[in-house]
Amino acid sequence: MNILLLGSGGREHAIAWKIAQSPKLNQLFIAPGNPGTASVGINLQIAADNFPALKEAILKNNIDLIVVGPEVPLVKGVVNFFATDEKTKKIPVIGPDKIGAQLEGSKDFSKKFMFRHNIPTAAYFSVTSVNIEDGVNFLKSLEAPYVLKADGLAAGKGVLILNDIQEAINELRSMLDGKFGAASKTVVIEEFLSGIECSVFVITDGKNYKILPEAKDYKRIGEGDKGLNTGGMGAVSPVPFADADFMQKVEDRIIKPTVEGLNSESIIYKGFIFFGLIKVKGEPYTIEYNARMGDPETEVVMLRLKSDLVDLLEGVAEGNLNEKTVEFDDRTAVTVMLVSGGYPEDFENGKVITGLDEVKNSIVFHAGTTEIDDNIVTNGGRVLAISSYGNTKDEALATSFENAQKITYEKKYFRSDIGFDL
Ligand code: AMP
Ligand code: GLY
Repeated sequence: MNILLLGSGGREHAIAWKIAQSPKLNQLFIAPGNPGTASVGINLQIAADNFPALKEAILKNNIDLIVVGPEVPLVKGVVNFFATDEKTKKIPVIGPDKIGAQLEGSKDFSKKFMFRHNIPTAAYFSVTSVNIEDGVNFLKSLEAPYVLKADGLAAGKGVLILNDIQEAINELRSMLDGKFGAASKTVVIEEFLSGIECSVFVITDGKNYKILPEAKDYKRIGEGDKGLNTGGMGAVSPVPFADADFMQKVEDRIIKPTVEGLNSESIIYKGFIFFGLIKVKGEPYTIEYNARMGDPETEVVMLRLKSDLVDLLEGVAEGNLNEKTVEFDDRTAVTVMLVSGGYPEDFENGKVITGLDEVKNSIVFHAGTTEIDDNIVTNGGRVLAISSYGNTKDEALATSFENAQKITYEKKYFRSDIGFDL
């Protein structure tokens, strides 16, 4: 089978690494990929949302299956594009169509969906320029802290959590005035939930689903979960507090109603669903959906997935996922993200990376790197995901931290407390 994977981050290197291990694979192409994916497949210099150019590459390379890594092509309708083109319509694409992708692309859509299907989530109120005063009144009815979310995609920056009511009201107005561009023309105000978060991943063929290993990611830039939000500074799987009792509640109250809800609304969803969950007094609530795998969670989920990923993806494409089995590795997997100094604010690219050859017992997934003049150089905020197994979380982390020290580039930064609260 020839597979095309779209994307260029650590998530895509991890998916590519796993696909490359499949006996079912003939050739793997990644568009656009990075130097890491080039070690397990063939990179194509095409942006993940340049659909016409992707179509040409798909036909030229006899692609049998397309896997979409990031959310942007999904929300832009990559699935619809290939499904409605005469020449590509028979080629399965792993990912939801444009409507299904709204579970991630619109917070208002996803909250309405959760309420329609009685899926536990925080109380909310959606505000646009026509009902600002109702929004202000809703805010005043809540207790601090106040959660404001831009409705649309805002590259992980569209959520504000504020302690002061006046500040929250001011921010609400500035978001509606375009603080996050078109993404915040609608703002979702939410009740604040206090608890501990984890990510649960499901792969679905639209009817059947399989639960993949869960993970916890560490979003803040600073140790002790302080400072600005990032895309994710590290991840651990399994998550001890996501025990069998909790996971059963997650499946019964959140996963099943979500898949059944999609079905009952005739939303075609063949792909990954990422459930961002919070455990409040033992009970699971849904913070958000994403229409793709998490990053850096994928870097640990792929390590723990023992089954053949291509076989599962085939099950999604053919609608017989119920006939497949998913086996997990019992070991703990962790990933520690090396980032560019300054991230998630301003940082510089192009710093030469050394020491990659000295890494032992970790798998280094490339996130933001590129190759210039035979050097691997930094090319993004998140640079490398140092991923390791261990019999315990501490053993796995010790391996990742040891290797994190061996890799050098100017202004390297990483959190040395990943997993501290587990
Ligand atoms: P989201 O993009 O919706 O996942 O929100 C980003 C982060 O904001 C989440 O991972 C949580 O840490 C936090 N957050 C979002 N919604 C809530 C909420 N209703 N209560 C508490 N924290 C929240
Ligand atoms: N790590 C969180 C995300 O991928 O959205």
